Amino acid sequence: MPASTPRPVTGVAPGRVNLIGEHVDYNGGRCLPFALRQSTTARVSPRDDDRLAVRSGERSWEGRPSQLDDAPSWVRYVAGVFVTLDVPGGFDVEVSSEVPIGAGLSSSAALECSVAVALDAALGLGYSPDELVAACVRAESEVVGAPTGGLDQAISVHARESHALLLDFATDEQRQVPFDPAAHDLAVLVVDTRVSHELTDGGYGARRDQAWEAARHLGVRHLAQVGPDDLAGLDAALLPRARHVVSEVRRVDEVVAALGAGDWAALGPLLDASHASLRDDYEVSCAELDTACETAREAGALGARMTGGGFGGSAIALTPRPRLGAVESAVRTAFAARGWTAPAFFVAEPGAGARVLA
Ligand code: GLA
Repeated sequence: MPASTPRPVTGVAPGRVNLIGEHVDYNGGRCLPFALRQSTTARVSPRDDDRLAVRSGERSWEGRPSQLDDAPSWVRYVAGVFVTLDVPGGFDVEVSSEVPIGAGLSSSAALECSVAVALDAALGLGYSPDELVAACVRAESEVVGAPTGGLDQAISVHARESHALLLDFATDEQRQVPFDPAAHDLAVLVVDTRVSHELTDGGYGARRDQAWEAARHLGVRHLAQVGPDDLAGLDAALLPRARHVVSEVRRVDEVVAALGAGDWAALGPLLDASHASLRDDYEVSCAELDTACETAREAGALGARMTGGGFGGSAIALTPRPRLGAVESAVRTAFAARGWTAPAFFVAEPGAGARVLA
C-alpha cells in the first residue's frame, strides 16, 4: 500500500460560499462557488500500529476506519477518506477548523479535503486533484451517508485566490472566473443564521429524489439538459422543482456573463431571483434565511440569497462596502425583533484551495 515511508504532513482545505447555482450539481448543471479564507487543518502522523486516532480539541476517537459503529459523525468524515483512499489506518489525525460548523459553508468538505491532501502526501499516493475530490465525495455519500453532489469538494480542492470556479457537472469542465468584489468596493457578506442544517436530515435527499424523478418523467438523464419550455407534463409536485433547476443554470450563465462584462450591478437581481426560486419552487429556504435576504436588500445590498443546501445555514448579500455596517445592523435588529438567536457575520474573501504545508 504505502508508495513511500509514511511521514507526518499537515493538510489545509477551505470552506466555501456558492455564489450561484444551487441544487444543480446533482442535476448535471453549472454552479459558481468560491472558497473562503477560513479553512480546516488536518495534521496526519504515522503511528506504530494500524489504528486510526482522531482528535479535535477535547474530542477524540480511536478505532479502525472499517469499524465506525461507535464513531461520532465528525469522525466519519475523516475515517471515510481513509476508507475511500484505501488506507486501513496507521495514523494519528489532529484536526482544527476555522470554518463555522453546520452553517452551510462546507465545513465537512473542508475536513475531508484537508485529510485527503495530507494523507496523499504522507503516503506518497500520487492521486490527482480530481481523484482526491472523487474520494472525498464518496467518503461523504458512502461512509457518512450524506448524498451530496460534489460541488463542495470540487471547490475546496480546486479554488484559486480572487477567483470563483465555474463547474459544469454535465461535462466535468471547470473554468476559473476572476472574482474580486473588493476591487469594486463591494463585499460578499455572509449571514450565518445559526439555524443548523444537517444534510443527513432527509430534506436534501428528498429534493434530490424528486429532481431525479422529474428527469425520468422527461426522459433525460439530468434536469439541466432541458429548457423552460420542456416541462409540460410534470405533475404539480415535480414541476416547481424542475423549474428551479432549469432557471438556476441560466442564472449562473448570466452571472458569469455579467462578471465578464464587469457589470456587477447585474448580479443583484440574479441573486434575488435565485433566492426566490429556492424559496418558492425548490422550497429549501426558511424564515431566518428569507428575513436575512429581505432585510439585507432593504438596507442597501445589491442582492441576496441563501447559499448551500438550505434548511438553515447561511445567506450571502452582495453589499457595497460603505453599506456593510448598515446591513449587519438591520439584519441583527430584524432577528432580535423576532426573538431569534443573533446571527453571525463575516465578509467572504475568495481564497485558495487545498494544499499541504511545507
Ligand atoms: C450541499 C451539497 C452540494 C450541493 C449544495 C446545494 O452543499 O453538499 O453538493 O448540492 O448543497 O447546491
